Amino acid sequence: PSCGSTKLEKTLAIIKPDGLLGNYTERVKETILESGFSILKEKTIQLDEDSVATFYAEHSAKNFFSSLVRYMISGPVLVMVLEKENAISCWRTLMGPTDASKAKITHPYSIRAMCGTNYEKNCVHGSDSPRSAQREISFFFSADAVTPHDEL
Ligand code: PPS
Repeated sequence: PSCGSTKLEKTLAIIKPDGLLGNYTERVKETILESGFSILKEKTIQLDEDSVATFYAEHSAKNFFSSLVRYMISGPVLVMVLEKENAISCWRTLMGPTDASKAKITHPYSIRAMCGTNYEKNCVHGSDSPRSAQREISFFFSADAVTPHDEL
């Protein structure tokens, strides 16, 4: 597969408020399982402004930041720890491009094409590197999700 297949990894996935509101949760989870990921952990939570600002701290200087924060607190999200060989890049490939309106044209079988709308309402999030996967998993889940035995 294009996303490679050597190293067992974990990544953090989020189904964003537009995904939950649009009742896409089951379809997204089916796609995840059919694509060979295991869902190791999951929880539905309502984020607040402070936690979103911390989670997306690297984007705090961007002009879209306040809009992104408002959107991410507009309703509950489902956070999941996914595991698979090369989970980090495989999940990003399965999500499709950030701008869901473009994804519908260029990556019609991606998750963002299925349930996203635009750059902001793009249905899902995925960690972009081993380092961010580790940070993002421990942001939402206690240490037992990442044991020394199965390193990220
Ligand atoms: S960047 O600038 O390249 O780092 O940004 P990008 O990776 O494209 O996007 C980072 C996250 O910010 C969200 N985003 C936006 N939100 C609202 N409005 C606008 N215009 C916008 N542009 C980008 C985007 O959905 C990304 O969210 P995550 O959850 O990380 O995929």
